[in-house]
Amino acid sequence: MYSRIAGTGSYLPEKILTNFDLERMVNTTDEWIRDRTGIERRHIAADGQTTVDLGEQAARRAIEAAGVRPGDIDFIAFGTTTPDLVFPNCGVLLQERLGCRGGPAFSVETACAGFVYALAIADKFVKAGEARCALVVGAETLSRITDWTDRSTAVIFADGAGAVVLQPDPQAGILSTHLHADGAYKDMLYCGTGVSKGFPDAKPYMTVKMVGSEVFKVAVLNLGKAVEEALTAQGLDKSALDWLVPHQANIRIIQATARRLNMPLERIIVTVQDHGNTSAASVPLALDVGVRDGRIKRGELLLLEAFGGGFTWGSALVRY
Ligand code: COA
Repeated sequence: MYSRIAGTGSYLPEKILTNFDLERMVNTTDEWIRDRTGIERRHIAADGQTTVDLGEQAARRAIEAAGVRPGDIDFIAFGTTTPDLVFPNCGVLLQERLGCRGGPAFSVETACAGFVYALAIADKFVKAGEARCALVVGAETLSRITDWTDRSTAVIFADGAGAVVLQPDPQAGILSTHLHADGAYKDMLYCGTGVSKGFPDAKPYMTVKMVGSEVFKVAVLNLGKAVEEALTAQGLDKSALDWLVPHQANIRIIQATARRLNMPLERIIVTVQDHGNTSAASVPLALDVGVRDGRIKRGELLLLEAFGGGFTWGSALVRY
């Protein structure tokens, strides 16, 4: 038994922040941002619009695409770094909105790898016969923990949401998932505030801190290993892949992984120019873009991968 992606959905908040807007906020240029990251614009949540608000829109679209009803959802795994509340978790808050009571609902807090982790967990439950209609969401309002005076991070992070519905299928679906973490890198990318550690008044303390060049190097190295690990686990050659659906952090990281796979850019779903880095939302957002514009077709082989703070990273090989 496999868990098959029955439907995808995504949602982006209305407000668009361009590189030119950022030029007026920090000491940067459109040219620098495009050259070093590939990002041209990103979406930012409205005041009062929360992670669950974004996730709900994406989830409803995925549910509709799967041809099921909200009440059919019996399992929710919600990847996010920017939850609405300390608790209840975002999965539970979404469950209440969808009106699908009783099944497990939880959030997964593994930064940009949040969706891939949540997908891997949901996949196991569907395969084991313990969930029949699982909803996996990745949603973020990273703008709330971005220091808009720090040019090294303000140009990168953004808001958005993506979701998939998983259902059991005897033929094909998620072939394997591969998750990793290395806490030795905890100081390379983090937000140094929290319930137990405290919420100091000083605003800069509540924002993302990143040693960008170090993150870049380790991301390229580990993503390269992760995609090869997934192919090896299934005894597949690189040439078997139809699409790479990567985490959208930086076009140069995506290109490095593509080189490792000998994949031309035309076989990679790239949304970083329009979405920026939406952390846990980035992979399901890119997947939904590729599915809805008709590039990704049923039966094709996809490799999903993500890398984030922790560090955490992982991949999923999917027969769509
Ligand atoms: N605008 C203009 N100049 C900037 C800038 C900005 N927004 N941010 C940094 N710079 C400057 C630096 O001050 C530095 O100047 P100097 O050479 O005079 O000291 C120069 O640009 C190069 O900085 P560096 O940090 O080495 O650039 P980089 O090529 O590594 O690119 C990142 C910076 C952040 C784009 C890149 O490191 C990156 O993408 N890292 C990974 C980030 C990531 O993926 N994070 C999320 C993981 S999920």
